[in-house]
Amino acid sequence: MVISRACYQVAAICITTLSFLIWIFHSSAGGGSTQHQVLRNQHESKFPFSSPVIPSPSLDNVQLRDAIHDILNQTLGFQKIYAISMPHRTDKRDYLALMGYVSNLQIDFIDGVNGSEMHPKSHPSFWKGTASTGDYGVWRAHLNIYQHMLSHNIQTALILEDDADWDILLRHQMLDFAHGARAIQNSSLLNPALHSPYGDTWDLLALGHIGANNKPNKVQKYWITQNDITVIPSQKRTWSRIPDFSAPALAEGKDEQMRVVMEVSKFTGAAAYGISLRGAARLLYDQALLPNAQAIDVAMLALCRHASSSDPFLCLGAYPMLFGRYRAIGPETKDSDRRSSSNEVVPGSGGFQDQKERVEARSEFTVFPVSLNLGGLLTGERKFVANVDGVQEGKERFEIDLAEYVFPKGREVLVGPEEYVARQSKINRKERVKKEQ
Ligand SMILES: *[C@@H]1O[C@H](CO)[C@@H](O)[C@H](O)[C@H]1NC(C)=O
Ligand SMILES: *[C@@H]1O[C@H](CO)[C@@H](O)[C@H](O)[C@H]1NC(C)=O
Ligand SMILES: *[C@@H]1O[C@H](CO)[C@@H](O)[C@H](O)[C@H]1NC(C)=O
Repeated sequence: MVISRACYQVAAICITTLSFLIWIFHSSAGGGSTQHQVLRNQHESKFPFSSPVIPSPSLDNVQLRDAIHDILNQTLGFQKIYAISMPHRTDKRDYLALMGYVSNLQIDFIDGVNGSEMHPKSHPSFWKGTASTGDYGVWRAHLNIYQHMLSHNIQTALILEDDADWDILLRHQMLDFAHGARAIQNSSLLNPALHSPYGDTWDLLALGHIGANNKPNKVQKYWITQNDITVIPSQKRTWSRIPDFSAPALAEGKDEQMRVVMEVSKFTGAAAYGISLRGAARLLYDQALLPNAQAIDVAMLALCRHASSSDPFLCLGAYPMLFGRYRAIGPETKDSDRRSSSNEVVPGSGGFQDQKERVEARSEFTVFPVSLNLGGLLTGERKFVANVDGVQEGKERFEIDLAEYVFPKGREVLVGPEEYVARQSKINRKERVKKEQ
């Protein structure tokens, strides 16, 4: 009995000592994680010798309290970044996770919707155009995000489709875009009390379209940035929707490397767009309650195009676009999940081997795509060669060194409807025809 009591005492001492040690280790581990937190906040990796994270541009000459600083944060100055992808497309999520990691972006995945599995009662009662369950699914996935924004009071979001690609210089581009967007909204840097770094009156930001029109029928401001080496050269602009830049103020310095921030009318495609809470509410109302349901990019286009002072919906966009598309190596049928026929696997074929095969991954509409440079970025590379040919002092392709690259600054110009040469000659022609009749 005596022995066993001694044993208990030893055990009690051991347990006390052990818990003391655990407490010490625990608190030192806690200290470690606080330090890690600090490192993370400085956008640094735990292994700073070859940080894979693209360095942010410097903002030395802007007031510290200006909202524009938020573009350097992990959601690019939006409250959230959402990427829509089907839960079974784990391959596309691998891609976006890597893209987000090196770009220091926090991307929330939102499950895409299989249109065939929507309950028939939840189908839109009116549908403009040919109804297909694939379109219903895409439409529903976007509406689900708007619904979520309303119920969670999300003020602004950047919405990506799961093949979106972007440039290594994305933060530089978005800073310049924000200056332009704010100039157009009359909310310059002199108005630092903004909620969004992109200004507070926009509804939609068309960032990843495939072609867009401007609004040459009204007096408006444009933001023009020249010598922007991230602008896709004209021979790679395969889209057909192009704005009317025939006004001298827009055409004057028009060269290969001009990007314009403008109010957009029609645009095609929605690989990447920003939406404000007000914009999301307007779009949800239009699509869910009014008889206007249609493919989601066409639905947006209609609101942007028909916006008026009594029915405002401010759509701003960059032309050419800022976000492009990634096309992975392998069968081309894997690109899209919209058409159900592309989801049928031939049993025993090991996938989609009978389909057209892409032998090299591609990035469309980007000059220094993050996607094709992931290998270099992951090893801390800082120098990059353009994905497309361009003209630069005898060099075949543009090169950038992130350590010293300075992005050009844009400027605003005001243009009236009478200044568009193309529009004016069309009007004159119509008047002549009328007179002759
Ligand atoms: C980034 O800035 C926006 C705008 O101020 C803000 O809503 C968002 O929460 C910030 N994101 C992060 C990750 O802090
Ligand atoms: C969508 O749902 C239908 C019906 O359940 C199913 O047959 C089809 O395989 C699903 N498609 C995908 C891509 O999951
Ligand atoms: C900005 O100001 C100009 C001139 O004062 C005005 O014509 C224009 O409508 C304003 N734009 C917006 C979006 O408020």
